[in-house]
Amino acid sequence: MERSSLISGFYKLTAKERLRYVKEFANLSEEECDLLQDTGSLPLSLADRMIENVVGVFPLPMGIAVNFLINDVDYLVPMVIEEPSVVAAASYAAKMVRDGGGFHTSSTPPIMIGQIQAVGMKDPEVARQRILEAKELILKNANDQDPVLVSAGGGAKNIDAKIIDTTVGSMLITELYVDCRDAMGANAVNTMAEAVAPIIEHLTGGRVYLRIISNLATKRLARAHCIVPQESVGGEEVVDGIVYASAFAEADPYRAATHNKGAMNGIIAVILATGNDHRAIEAGAHAYAALKGKYTTISKWEKTEKGDLRGSIELPMAVGLIGGAVKTHPIARIAMKILGVKTANEFAEVLAAVGLAQNLAALRALAHEGIQRGHMSLHARNIAVAAGAPEDIVNLVAERMVKERKIRMDRAKEIIEELIAAD
Ligand code: MEV
Repeated sequence: MERSSLISGFYKLTAKERLRYVKEFANLSEEECDLLQDTGSLPLSLADRMIENVVGVFPLPMGIAVNFLINDVDYLVPMVIEEPSVVAAASYAAKMVRDGGGFHTSSTPPIMIGQIQAVGMKDPEVARQRILEAKELILKNANDQDPVLVSAGGGAKNIDAKIIDTTVGSMLITELYVDCRDAMGANAVNTMAEAVAPIIEHLTGGRVYLRIISNLATKRLARAHCIVPQESVGGEEVVDGIVYASAFAEADPYRAATHNKGAMNGIIAVILATGNDHRAIEAGAHAYAALKGKYTTISKWEKTEKGDLRGSIELPMAVGLIGGAVKTHPIARIAMKILGVKTANEFAEVLAAVGLAQNLAALRALAHEGIQRGHMSLHARNIAVAAGAPEDIVNLVAERMVKERKIRMDRAKEIIEELIAAD
């Protein structure tokens, strides 16, 4: 077979046929092909309908973060992630926060912004006024696209229009504010934005190009805050360390990126578990962090007058309970059932709390003992297993290596021999 990536009609093949092609191209073994199509709980037929050119599935572990008390309600939090320590860290932080009464959260109504870009107007300011004057017409047209959303109390609620100066001249951006209720809303908003575009062209005399949702969902924010008692977090020095860490990140974008990454570790793991759009959440979070012109943190930690730790987080949270993979992916449906949230707003608030917990765990580890100790224990366990440690002494071998700071195969073998001889 000619080795080319230019394949006409690849999408028309079945998943098995596609895999045969990839097998040849990449020299995969039979076992590798079997693994790719060992689809477990996501049948190949379903995977094939979710995206294009499917050849298999990609499993990831799902763990449950425990101890979460949010607005006096207990939650078990399903997380899907490839990184060790994240689930344990979230659970540990949630326990510390629980000692201070748990998380308290709030959120704005689930309003997403749709943008319609018009160019080439003679007088953009006159065009802007015309758009604003035609608000009712535009809203009606938008809402005609989604009677189900409107009957659920959602729909396009308002509009705005702004002129922006760009490298290729000024543009008029009309913004539709759409209450998406329990949907993430991309489909609804994009359909509305496309539908009202001809009206915008008619009113402005300009040419409409882009008609699309904005992932910088500043009107759909989720917030969480908490108090962590000084004793629970490890004493005054640790509180101070976390406050210094937070201030460092607030002032320095290089640290802020990593600080925010720590919070997103938790949020994205839940987003993945529930089949939501993690790229949208990630894009929104980081854009929000830079909204004031300089990239900074989405969360903050301060010392209270009593010497406890007070943390807060705020970020856009465009998540849904309906639509897309949330409903079609069988494991996402189970994850949602475990989480037990009833509305997209409740879901968004839980995610904010998870982000704050994850951020707390990371900062505590960094300000206290460094994060490598936790990572090293896992690494040491893996080395112990690889060195042939029987199940009942894996932890002992790992602990000894961590203590000695010698996490090596040869040392693991020596310790295993010693322990077995002493038994
Ligand atoms: C690692 O995945 C996340 C951290 O780097 C976050 C942080 O530095 O705050 C530990």
